[in-house]
Amino acid sequence: MKIRLTGLAVAALSLATTASAQLTPAEEGRRVYLANNCYGCHGGRGGGTSFGAPVLRTGEAEVGDLTEVIREGGDRGMPAFPNLNNTTDINNLAAYFRSMRTPAEPIFNNWWEAVPTASIPRPLRLYLAAREKLLRAPVE
Ligand code: HEC
Repeated sequence: MKIRLTGLAVAALSLATTASAQLTPAEEGRRVYLANNCYGCHGGRGGGTSFGAPVLRTGEAEVGDLTEVIREGGDRGMPAFPNLNNTTDINNLAAYFRSMRTPAEPIFNNWWEAVPTASIPRPLRLYLAAREKLLRAPVE
């Protein structure tokens, strides 16, 4: 039983590793959003905070507007992000904002994970959770 579990875990891990190369643009955008602390002002899922930064959870994102605000910042407190002033980051951010309020919206919270937990396919996630539970069960 133990050997079988280990074998499955290896299969699960290699699947997970393969998945890391296939993050969607929205997932890449969520990473940028988390890694650059956008959530500190705009909220964990773009719903705004008490600081008064605009709600981004509108399902719309104009690449032109985004480019401008990233490059120049805003008068009311939006800082400029020169490190993100490139088409890859801006397109990924735009894809992330457009995914908001759709089933494709990524919701993971740790940008540094090779495979963000919420990007792991559901059956695999269920398997890993079940396995975790099993391994933690007291030995009788
Ligand atoms: C220090 C707080 C703060 C941080 C951090 C911040 N923003 Fe903002 N953001 C604002 C404020 C305030 C505005 C309103 C524009 C202004 O400053 O005049 C804004 C405006 C925007 C807008 C335009 C939305 C609209 O409806 O006008 C976008 C898009 C945006 N921010 C994206 C981001 C992204 C992406 C990041 C991270 C890379 C980020 N923001 C980080 C405070 C912040």
